[in-house]
Amino acid sequence: MDDTLRAAAFLDKGGTGKTTTVAHLGVALAELDQEVLLVDLAGKQGDLAKHFGVWGSYQKQIEEDEAWPNISTVFDDAWSTIADKLGEDPVADLVVDTGEGPDLIPAHPGLDTLDSELGNIDDSHDRYSRFEQFLDEYVDQLSYDVVLIDLPGMTNNVTYNGLWATRNALTPVEMGPFEAEQADALRRDLDKIAENFEIEIDLSLVLPNKVDTRTSLAEEYLESFEAEYPDAIAPSYVPYSQDIRNAAQRGVTAFELDGPSTTARQAREAYLAATETLLERLGGEGDV
Ligand SMILES: Nc1ncnc2c1ncn2[C@@H]1O[C@H](COP(=O)(O)OP(=O)(O)OP(=O)(O)O)[C@@H](O)[C@H]1O
Ligand SMILES: [Mg+2]
Repeated sequence: MDDTLRAAAFLDKGGTGKTTTVAHLGVALAELDQEVLLVDLAGKQGDLAKHFGVWGSYQKQIEEDEAWPNISTVFDDAWSTIADKLGEDPVADLVVDTGEGPDLIPAHPGLDTLDSELGNIDDSHDRYSRFEQFLDEYVDQLSYDVVLIDLPGMTNNVTYNGLWATRNALTPVEMGPFEAEQADALRRDLDKIAENFEIEIDLSLVLPNKVDTRTSLAEEYLESFEAEYPDAIAPSYVPYSQDIRNAAQRGVTAFELDGPSTTARQAREAYLAATETLLERLGGEGDV
């Protein structure tokens, strides 16, 4: 099967590590010789591009009106006409190089109004499937093995487009009583969306993030997540790592660090191991 595998980072909550996870899994997959495309639908602040240190130059293009076409253009009524005019490979005009393996379609200020613009589309199938159409018609025939989407930390029409297009959620979860509740809410959210839209959404990967195993409670929570999500739980957790935070601020992932700390090394191993669960769940076993 030459199909491009797809998954979207989803959790109806901010700050659990969706962007960090998409960035690191993207690089981990690239390390395993996968061709990876990352797409930032998470909002105009451009977090995924920032994570790779390429937001500054993209922002300059935006200011100089040169960031056209961009991620919001592909949701446009006129996209197929625009794409025809762009020529052979319109996706190439959207993509920037992360410098760490994956390609990236960065966020754009146009994402700001996209939710309400999608809301104005009467036909619900059309409203939720615009992004799927884009991936089906323009991305699938390219050489990418995996497409990972970063979504907003809330459920809106853009989020629905990401889940509709991928049918696969990957979710970083933190450890704590509130988070355990969040995990239940996640399953309920996904079931509700699947039911409303009459589609199946698989939870492909649950990745415990920012785990501090110095506390015995963390171990307990890890066990409860394993029991709750036996098929989707990653083989190992990502520890809390100041190195990850510092690296992100410098515009690189933990894979780029020359002298990684113990936690950063653990995190790299965990991301690499998590890609195996992800690929298996997305049906790509045998690829690596
Ligand atoms: N394992 C980790 N160790 C330490 N810090 C982390 C870890 N994972 C993520 N962080 C930090 O936590 C913060 C939130 O992470 P991130 O931006 O990835 O979350 P998010 O779910 O994408 O948030 P939002 O919903 O706002 O988009 C960032 O500062 C990030 O660097
Ligand atoms: Mg984010």
